[in-house]
Amino acid sequence: MTRSTRNSSSFWDLHRQGARLQKTLFRATKGRVGSKFLGAPVLLLDHVGRRSGEARTNPLIYLDDSPDLVVVASKGGSDAHPAWFHNLMAMPVTDVELRGGIRRRVRPRVASGAEREALWPRLVEVFPPYADYAGYTEREIPVIVLEPADPVAQRAVVQHGYGTAHAVLSSVDLPIEPPSPTQVRVRVRAASVNPIDWQMIEGHRRLLVRRRFPFVPLFDLAGVVTAVGREVTRLKVGDRVHADNKLGGGGAGEFVNVEQDLVSVMPESLGFAEAAALPLAGQTALLALDKAGVGAGSRVVVIGASGGVGTYAVQIAKALGAAHVTAVSSGRNASFVRGLGADEVVDHTAGRFDSALPARSFDAVLDLVGGREQWEAARNVLKDGGRFVTISRDEDDRVTFGAALRLAPPILARQVRSRFGRRIAYVPVFLDASRELLDRVDRFVDAGQLRVHVDRVYEPTLDGVVAALEHSKSGRTVGKVVVRWEEHAEGR
Ligand SMILES: NC(=O)c1ccc[n+]([C@@H]2O[C@H](COP(=O)([O-])OP(=O)(O)OC[C@H]3O[C@@H](n4cnc5c(N)ncnc54)[C@H](OP(=O)(O)O)[C@@H]3O)[C@@H](O)[C@H]2O)c1
Repeated sequence: MTRSTRNSSSFWDLHRQGARLQKTLFRATKGRVGSKFLGAPVLLLDHVGRRSGEARTNPLIYLDDSPDLVVVASKGGSDAHPAWFHNLMAMPVTDVELRGGIRRRVRPRVASGAEREALWPRLVEVFPPYADYAGYTEREIPVIVLEPADPVAQRAVVQHGYGTAHAVLSSVDLPIEPPSPTQVRVRVRAASVNPIDWQMIEGHRRLLVRRRFPFVPLFDLAGVVTAVGREVTRLKVGDRVHADNKLGGGGAGEFVNVEQDLVSVMPESLGFAEAAALPLAGQTALLALDKAGVGAGSRVVVIGASGGVGTYAVQIAKALGAAHVTAVSSGRNASFVRGLGADEVVDHTAGRFDSALPARSFDAVLDLVGGREQWEAARNVLKDGGRFVTISRDEDDRVTFGAALRLAPPILARQVRSRFGRRIAYVPVFLDASRELLDRVDRFVDAGQLRVHVDRVYEPTLDGVVAALEHSKSGRTVGKVVVRWEEHAEGR
């Protein structure tokens, strides 16, 4: 906002009226309605006072966008604090409305000393820019902390319908539900994104699984157990855990209840971001290797080696004793996948991968990318009796009746054909996540045989979750994309 805009008289007239109305409402409702002044309108008070030249202390509002507290800073002036400050501090508990229409019941208190020092750099919303006011006051600007008064609410990014993430996700307050007898409640510290997340948000699988809205997305999560159902004996409050919560999702919220059969205690060596990056992709990699029969001495090709599932598949194949792992990735990721243990890298951007490999020389091909050409290329490099294991399909991931009709006959034909001639098995794999499988993945981590590569970490805000989903959708993820909560909230 420029100075000339602030000085236009129609601007000030409008804002003065707005400020009066706010004050009246605030007093008449004992702070219930006027507390909305924590949004942009409070700025009106500031402008009015400044313009009219009254010696009044005026507020600037700064909101910290963390899920745990809101910080408000009031600009000091030449006299005492403004009425809104006194009114707010007189409230033991009051309602505020945050950006995005989120309402919270909060307890206000003034932060001082070390706490104020720590909070000050976190004041993220400065409007109008504080520089405009430099020199007006030498007094310390008071920082007010608004702590949640109501522990039964959580903030979550939720899906309201099918569509692209930015169109159908929003940030809302939700109740924290008690866990069922067989569930544990997890305070989510990090979640990771898998392609299935944006595919299901966009409705690609709605023919198979219909979601009830609002739905909290992100299947993969890591966090701390804060409550256990009465039949849970294996886990306790305080355990650091991770899980693929299957169709339950919930990674984009602060709390989620997860069936105990899906939950493993995190490997001690991992932080929450790494632990959240493991469940879905790690279990898929291990299951695919199991189905491929990979073990000591195997020669394996991994197509899509630099992605979420691929990075784990390469490492676990080596840990299982594979004699030779050929990674298929783009050339720019060649040194990365070599670092995972791949013995050889084929650049898929330089041509079909089979043209770079000796014919009939591999026991198994893991297809983590999809497309008919992978099957055709794999047949050329597989030995007789070899296994082609795919976690993807021949077409893009939108499940429709038309696609099902097109896809079923060739898949059936491949499976029938695998019983004759060269007997190359065609094995589609769909993960059914479980604690047992995740425990097996974790043991590779504990043994120092499996590392997690986090491509990028996003904030757990609406913007962060949308950006993380778009990152995954780009199809160029190296390792995993993660959404992580700040460590400051860990103790709650
Ligand atoms: N069936 C199941 O149960 C199951 C479970 C998990 C995942 N999935 C599916 O499996 C697929 C992979 O999942 P993900 O989590 O690994 O995905 P991801 O992390 O998004 O994979 C991205 C990677 O794919 C690589 N890639 C793209 N085109 C390629 C090609 N033609 N050849 C080789 N690499 C290629 C890219 O590597 P470069 O940039 O180096 O090309 C990128 O690193 C997704 O379609 C997902 O939906 C299925």
